[in-house]
Amino acid sequence: MTAHVPAIEGGSPVRDTFLPFSTPSIGDDEINEVVDTLRSGWLTTGPKAQRFEERFAEYVGTSHAVAVSSCTAALHLSLLAVGCGPGDEVIVPDLTFPATVNAVVHTGARPVLGDVDASTWNLTPAEIERRISPRTKAVIPVHFGGLPCELDGIYDLARERDIRVVEDCAHAVGAEYKGKLIGSTPGPNAFSFYANKNLTTAEGGMITTDDHEVAAKTATWRLHGLDRDAWKRFHVQESTPFRCVFPGFKYNLTDVAAALGLWQLARLPEMLADRERIASRYDAIVDGWEGVSRQPRYATRDEGRHGLHLYAIVVDPGCVTVSRDRLIAAVRDENVGAAVHYEPIHQQPYYADLLGIGDEDMPGATRVGSWVMSLPLSPGMSERDVDDVLVATEKVLAYYRR
Ligand SMILES: Cc1ncc(COP(=O)(O)O)c(C=O)c1O
Repeated sequence: MTAHVPAIEGGSPVRDTFLPFSTPSIGDDEINEVVDTLRSGWLTTGPKAQRFEERFAEYVGTSHAVAVSSCTAALHLSLLAVGCGPGDEVIVPDLTFPATVNAVVHTGARPVLGDVDASTWNLTPAEIERRISPRTKAVIPVHFGGLPCELDGIYDLARERDIRVVEDCAHAVGAEYKGKLIGSTPGPNAFSFYANKNLTTAEGGMITTDDHEVAAKTATWRLHGLDRDAWKRFHVQESTPFRCVFPGFKYNLTDVAAALGLWQLARLPEMLADRERIASRYDAIVDGWEGVSRQPRYATRDEGRHGLHLYAIVVDPGCVTVSRDRLIAAVRDENVGAAVHYEPIHQQPYYADLLGIGDEDMPGATRVGSWVMSLPLSPGMSERDVDDVLVATEKVLAYYRR
């Protein structure tokens, strides 16, 4: 069988073993810290979660960081803390993971989808303005893939129209906008530490804010709405019982997870540099592929820094003879774990029923979401892995080129 025939068509795969879309980078420090926690006699939220919060706040440059069990929890609590509830509307991008929109629904507010720009794949201030109504309470800009949204314009608009901004920073740990880290703006801002993110605690999240009231509310609401957490009740000399001041949630981050986070944060510069090494190698080849586009990069660090959570490309449907799903299946059969991030929210069955929005109303998200493919990107990928991804993707695109 000739080398250019994809494995899915009966050829031989580029690799013998499967390269996953993302593999966490876990060092000995993370492992030792987790073991230390397991032996410490205290597993759930306690001193390590508190240390992780302090270090994350210091890293991002906010006065508060509130550790929670996921970005979904961080979004939910942040929306509640800025006052979202029944009767309100919250503007969210159509191109995102469902959790962004689900969090709005959990508050009782109604999500209002905005289309994304077809080149940055992000919401723009103009699109947000177009979707504002008298009921709009907040907007959730998502820094898609790690590319910061135009935050100056978004915050100017929010001030002008008296709406709140809750940033979805799930993809953007380490990303920068005009010299400042994502998460350092007023927000509140919600991060994800899910297993494939730039910094992982297996499952976990963080709210960053300078607003003392938002921090105090979310810290209480994340643990049943009690005025004192278990660590303080059992270990700090306090004899009075807790008081339930709000019907809260079970959204706290465990010390086992925070133990991972402490060292992931310490290793973040090195892991981000590795993502940049891999992305630059991809850029050098991908930019020469006809009919393929990707998100823009900043020319200088002063302008901004793409967080490179995802390395995603969009294929021009006019250039290929098969569907995007067939392209992905073919790349995966080469043993390279390509994936989809994401199909638009308006096409998800629940939101199609709730909102009844057609593809023609969301041309940017429909265009990107129908033809986007994420290539594997995780720290520790070898030069050989990077070569295999490029060879496999190029082989599949060449075979199906129109
Ligand atoms: C844009 C976006 N927002 C929110 C989330 C939810 O994150 P978590 O799994 O930490 O709740 C994700 C997860 O991938 C995401 O991609």
